[in-house]
Amino acid sequence: GKNMLWGGRFTGGMDPLMNTFNASLPYDRILYAQDIAGSIAFARANKNRGILTSSEFEKIEEGFEKVKKEWEDNSFEVREADEDIHTANERRLCEIIGNEVGGKLHTGRSRNEQIATDMRLWLRDELRKIDQYLVDLLRVMTSRAEMEIELLMPGYTHLQRAQPVRWSHWLLSYGMAFAADLQRLRETIKRVNRSPLGCGALSGNPFGIDREAMAKELGFEGLMWNSMAAVADRDFALESIQWSSFLMSHVSRLAEDLIIHSTAEFGYVKLSDAYSTGSSLMPQKHNPDSLELLRGKSGRVFGQACGLQMSIKSTPSTYNKDLQESVEPMIDCVKTVGMSVQILTGVVSTMKLQKEKMWDALSPDMLAIELAEFLVRKGVPFRETHHISGRIVALAESEGVPMDKLSVQQIQSVDDRFDDDVKNCFNYERSVEMRSAKGGTSKASVLEQIAVLKDLLESK
Ligand code: ARG
Repeated sequence: GKNMLWGGRFTGGMDPLMNTFNASLPYDRILYAQDIAGSIAFARANKNRGILTSSEFEKIEEGFEKVKKEWEDNSFEVREADEDIHTANERRLCEIIGNEVGGKLHTGRSRNEQIATDMRLWLRDELRKIDQYLVDLLRVMTSRAEMEIELLMPGYTHLQRAQPVRWSHWLLSYGMAFAADLQRLRETIKRVNRSPLGCGALSGNPFGIDREAMAKELGFEGLMWNSMAAVADRDFALESIQWSSFLMSHVSRLAEDLIIHSTAEFGYVKLSDAYSTGSSLMPQKHNPDSLELLRGKSGRVFGQACGLQMSIKSTPSTYNKDLQESVEPMIDCVKTVGMSVQILTGVVSTMKLQKEKMWDALSPDMLAIELAEFLVRKGVPFRETHHISGRIVALAESEGVPMDKLSVQQIQSVDDRFDDDVKNCFNYERSVEMRSAKGGTSKASVLEQIAVLKDLLESK
């Protein structure tokens, strides 16, 4: 049949497949409440300009309350011609209050400003939930870092044992990345939360609508200042997905570390049953599916960021239907990210640490640098001491003993500036506590990091 919304100049019907291809209601129905709130704000503003009478406005407002109720209790009946959420809501409103008044709702308005408004309102609220999930994650991370600050483990570069670190220091290395993500998120929300409403199809509103009043009613923090930009812009969605990519790259890397740390070969952590699965064949298996899903889902999000950028990169000025392709990735990305952060919080808060395994993984060769620094403190140039320490590593290797089992005499045979105190070098705790400059792995430095993160979590 002819389209109710724009059918005026059309004679033929639409190819049914084109109808399905064009329709966004299957996914943009999630925006029903935002669409209704935007419509009510718009009608109120039109009333204040004398475009609608008070009683017309009240009819519209009450009608929309009923439409909203229908969405909420799942009794909204979708019709063939309901192309998108705007069409569906307006069609239903007119059925409830009649075309005489309902037909005035769209005065001076375009779906182009509606969809941009709906998406921004929805995304803003979802991003605020994610903000809270991230705060929860950071609370768990800081409190574990504080409680388990005594545990030492190997720190790695190239996935090769490098130097001993506190487990808390490793954990907070991800905490710092998430803290930066939280700050970036808060910046992003500011740009999402700006109102395109009152910009029309592209050129602005001809009835002197009070855009600021509408923005205020909807909780926007500011306006989009150019009507053409307002309807064309999907940067708010793209930025949110790009932000999500940032976050998910950190989630993925932490997941990868934990997958490695939970193997029998490492054994530093044991995932809780709540976040693991078994094998249908091998009864002994305890698989880190939660972490693998986190790692895998990061790829989905990167794809959405890239996909949306491709969809919009060549659109000519203002609204083009390509922009509809921003809705699904936005919805899916937010869902993925929201769940991911909550799952990660669950994993991190419930996993058990295997102190012995971490301790046993420390090896004396990881302290080779201590020998070099021992001589540095006696005034020997570092380049020289590095060499000397390397020769002691080689000596231990040729003697077939761990470095800490070499006698002081053997060490002195390499360089006679070593004295008995050199034996102190073979102490993991000491090595860690030496790194006491800000940002290092000593207890004081790690406690300072915890304080920095807690400060951030207090702020809004
Ligand atoms: N469903 C559309 C979208 O998501 C709403 C805007 C339609 N505007 C138009 N001129 N066809 O982009």
